[in-house]
Amino acid sequence: MPVGSQSAGEAGRFAALTEALGILYGGDYNPEQWDPATWREDARLMREAGVNLVTVGVFSWARYEPRPGVRDFDWLDEVLDLLHAHDVAVDLATPTASPPAWLGRRFPETLPVDADGVRLVAGSRNHFSPASRIYREHALAITTDLVDRYADHPAVRMWHVGNEFGQVCYGEESAREFRRWLVERYGTIERLNDAWGTAFWSQHYADWDEILPPRRMPYHVNPTQSLDFRRYSSDLMRELFREQLDVIRARDAVRPVTTNFMGFFPLVDYWSWADDLDVVADDAYPDPGDPHSPADAALTQDLMRSLGQGRPWVLMEQAAGAVSWREHNLPKSPERSRLESLQAVARGADGVCFFQWRAARAGAERFHSAMLPHAGPDTRVHEGVRRLGADLRLLRPVVGTTVPARVAILFDWESWWAAHELARPTVRLDTLAQLRAWYRPLWETGVAVDVVRPGSDLAAYDVVLVPQTYLLDEHAAERLTEAAARGASVVVGPFTGVADTDAQVRTGRFPVLLTGLLGVSGEEWVPLPDDGVTLALDPRWGSGVDVVDARATTFAEALRADGAAVLARFAGGHLDGLPAITRTTAGAGRCWYVGTVPTGPVLERVLDDALRAGGVGPALAVAAEVPGLEVVRRGPALFLLNHTGVELDVPVPSAATDLLTGSEVSGGRVRVPATGAVVLIEDG
Ligand code: GAL
Repeated sequence: MPVGSQSAGEAGRFAALTEALGILYGGDYNPEQWDPATWREDARLMREAGVNLVTVGVFSWARYEPRPGVRDFDWLDEVLDLLHAHDVAVDLATPTASPPAWLGRRFPETLPVDADGVRLVAGSRNHFSPASRIYREHALAITTDLVDRYADHPAVRMWHVGNEFGQVCYGEESAREFRRWLVERYGTIERLNDAWGTAFWSQHYADWDEILPPRRMPYHVNPTQSLDFRRYSSDLMRELFREQLDVIRARDAVRPVTTNFMGFFPLVDYWSWADDLDVVADDAYPDPGDPHSPADAALTQDLMRSLGQGRPWVLMEQAAGAVSWREHNLPKSPERSRLESLQAVARGADGVCFFQWRAARAGAERFHSAMLPHAGPDTRVHEGVRRLGADLRLLRPVVGTTVPARVAILFDWESWWAAHELARPTVRLDTLAQLRAWYRPLWETGVAVDVVRPGSDLAAYDVVLVPQTYLLDEHAAERLTEAAARGASVVVGPFTGVADTDAQVRTGRFPVLLTGLLGVSGEEWVPLPDDGVTLALDPRWGSGVDVVDARATTFAEALRADGAAVLARFAGGHLDGLPAITRTTAGAGRCWYVGTVPTGPVLERVLDDALRAGGVGPALAVAAEVPGLEVVRRGPALFLLNHTGVELDVPVPSAATDLLTGSEVSGGRVRVPATGAVVLIEDG
């Protein structure tokens, strides 16, 4: 099969697995750290906890291949047989994230080089250069032998390629690969010179061989060079993934294959990967100390569902308690761990797994929580794990179902990368922060949202939000125009459409490709003083709504209304009297432009306007009035998730049954326990 020839149409492979097992439940299991007596205890405790799938072998390469070319798989035979005997299925990993120490010693060129030219060494993990031919040959060799040996093992039900791809190398071999990638992209050196704008600072290249990765330089790096290096690095990692995927597919056409993503991870463009996966998988470690983490986690989960284009996804890793890699690691309570797991299921996950099954005694992660803590099964954490296993069995009716959304929020990695060059009007306008700020009010009101790549078909959406898409091409602009023409609400935020795909600024009044659509245009970017600027709202727009603290913060734009109605103006400062927020009609739809970062209540007003115009409402009307209550509809179920520390009494429209307790809900109200959840199936 040719490289990367999988398609989204293969989602049935994963469905076959969940049809057999229900919601996948388990975690990373590292038997190489334990003796056979412990394996036996693990298998028994897994079964008792309702675990049905564990990811094995992520970091086992040195154990499989202790010396070059030697193979030692016998111990794994025993582990897989044992797990199978206990009805625990295996997601078998290719061990390529952490090569044995001998590889780097023998072939130093397999080790990664950082931007300062320092070659990193073995002793941790991820010590490989994705550009290294020798590393890749060895990775494929061990993958081939592993897959050959276990493709027919009955315990193996899924394949897991590598771990958290995200390695970048600035060394010589990577420089050669980068040049190859550039030749493919640009064809001629002059085309590259144009795209990179090398007339600036005497950066012109006469020959491909002069080009280097953006290593440490005396001053600012060329922004397009930096953007292309990110594109190249992401493509290179995808190539590594695909090579291993092809080894698996050559031997096994049936079992699903995945690799674990990391949410809004900055080094890989997951849009370009998702079609290669039978199921999207995510590793998520929300900080229990961050009050925004429930909303931000929901956004990440919506991204994972959206990457799979409506297919289910799995939460591949999370912590049962505390992580050990922050400076100060607040633990989660078992209740919170359960709630976060149910939140993932509500948002489309068909698997809930942890890092890791048994807490390590040694190594860099010995203080990381696990499903089975150091203190053993007689612990609050493990009791919580057993309870969650039982809960997930009850949620089987939602397996394979989707979360219908009529709101799209645009996000893409290339724009994020390009917008984050050091030299820009302000580093305080952050693409991800903007995305999160626009998402939160929708989360609070219980409105379902898909995360959508600019340029995608928007036909399914009645509201399209563009918090900040810095790079915008003609096609993506056209999609927005089409959406408005057929009646959707389109809301565009600041610093959008600034650059083309070469990261060069589009000249003319901005946002250049959208001024006609929006009826407004701008001429100057204006970072704001720390206390911001007052916004004067048009009384007809603001009336009846208590908008306290109407301010523009962080960043603003000097705008001129070219036909759009002005909903808010800057009052004071450099932009005094100029429009800040506008609205216009476009075809059958409406468009808003938000030329600043408004305070929460003002942004909520804009979004509320857009939702009303688009005819989009929440999953449950009351959600907005109960702070901390998250409401999501998935398939036949209505999930009510209580992120507060007190019980909530929630009015519900019809008689229903709670899947988690089996109890009937009638009389129009349901009690949702503190840090707990209710999953309703409406009667009839
Ligand atoms: C993930 C990783 C796991 C483990 C975990 C700890 O990034 O895939 O192997 O290190 O973090 O939180």
